[in-house]
Amino acid sequence: MKLSLTDNLDQVQAIILIGTEGTDYSEYITEKKELDFLKSRIGDGRNEVAINQYNRYLFICHTVYKDGGNLFEKARLSGHKLQAMANARKIRKIGIADLSRQKEMLIALAEGLILGNYQFLKYRADKKEKANSLSAVHILKGPMKKQDIRELQHVCRGVYLARDLVNEPLSTLTAVMLAREIEKAGKDAGFSVEVFHKKKIESLRMGGLLAVNRGSIDPPTFTILRWDPEKARNKKPVVLVGKGVVYDTGGLSLKPTHDSMDYMKSDMAGAAAVVGTIYAAAMNKLPVRLIGLVPATDNRPDGNAYVPGDVIKMFDGTTVEVLNTDAEGRMILADALSWAKKYEPMLVINLATLTGSAQMTLGRYGIAAMGNAGEDLFNELKASGDRVCERIAEFPFWDDYAELLKSDVADIKNIGGRYAGAITAGKFLEHFTGYPFIHLDIAGPSFNKTSDA
Ligand code: BES
Ligand code: ZN
Ligand code: ZN
Repeated sequence: MKLSLTDNLDQVQAIILIGTEGTDYSEYITEKKELDFLKSRIGDGRNEVAINQYNRYLFICHTVYKDGGNLFEKARLSGHKLQAMANARKIRKIGIADLSRQKEMLIALAEGLILGNYQFLKYRADKKEKANSLSAVHILKGPMKKQDIRELQHVCRGVYLARDLVNEPLSTLTAVMLAREIEKAGKDAGFSVEVFHKKKIESLRMGGLLAVNRGSIDPPTFTILRWDPEKARNKKPVVLVGKGVVYDTGGLSLKPTHDSMDYMKSDMAGAAAVVGTIYAAAMNKLPVRLIGLVPATDNRPDGNAYVPGDVIKMFDGTTVEVLNTDAEGRMILADALSWAKKYEPMLVINLATLTGSAQMTLGRYGIAAMGNAGEDLFNELKASGDRVCERIAEFPFWDDYAELLKSDVADIKNIGGRYAGAITAGKFLEHFTGYPFIHLDIAGPSFNKTSDA
């Protein structure tokens, strides 16, 4: 989607007018009948109203932001609705005139419009017919500056990239292919990428990653992303770790029910989020030192697959009794988290589609978060999550939960029993840290079938 600033809206097929209480629409709507129609629709409580003028459509987005709730998210959802209205009318170029002059709201609305317009059609023969018509957004000059446009565009591209990676199935996104995609993204955005292939991973003895990979016919990868700007605000880097299970069958503890495997191509959504984030940060030249770590493999049953009862020696020397091979995410993440120590990070954020337990608790509406990074960092992350409606729900992280991971034969076991599965998984990860740590279990919100999410 093209996004640009413009002096006039003569060229577009439809104009979105953003208004609020007291907005004067008469510059665009001169017919009294049309104005009356608009007033009556607004009176009925309709926020988005379409008027078909002789040479163009007008979509009026009239919002009175008075009650609580997340105002930015309301604006984003309006953008999503307007996108659908535009595509239903086969509009290619749309203009936006912000008569309310609330820059932040305009940015949020444009973001909703662009993110709602996303599609994944590459494997369909009818992609031409199915493709959304909307391909350009022209914003009439006002409080929004070129820099704002660029930032928004880069963030949206990062989101599109992450979504593309999540949607790509296993046969076109093995661990090696994922690493290659990350290299491409790095070239595009200007961050550096180093890929460890199987031999290197073996020589490093990343036992967790190698154990999960043993049942696979495809080799694993371990990818390191670096965004290291000259005038960074932080000396010690922030490290983002993403679960890159390109497909999760459960391994020998094969996933049971008929549909529990259908979307397991998305078990690398944590990796995708890390790549999309660093992509956007690099494109926007954020003055923040960032490192991304993506351990990647599929998880499959096979003659050589790791088995329940096995004891695995991890990268940091810890021995793990494997009691369920479907708890594979934590096995590969543990090695990445141990590796992260060498950066002496100020903070490590782990992103993973780690447990059905987190998904059961929050559905697609929130991220299960836990950690030991201290209240200030946690609250900052929570506040930014609220701002973009990627909401974070903090789970308790009491040491009692770590008790559940005690093993008779090894240092720890890889599952904690029936209860509090999201938290015991977090406690397993914590064992391999030694720095401020926040774990985000994104199993619930990672895969959405609706365009408004
Ligand atoms: N990838 C799954 C978690 C998952 C479930 C993600 C549903 C997205 C949607 C993970 O590897 C897994 O299988 N976890 C097990 C752990 C259990 C064996 C301790 C789970 O949550 O059932
Ligand atoms: Zn699993
Ligand atoms: Zn998994």
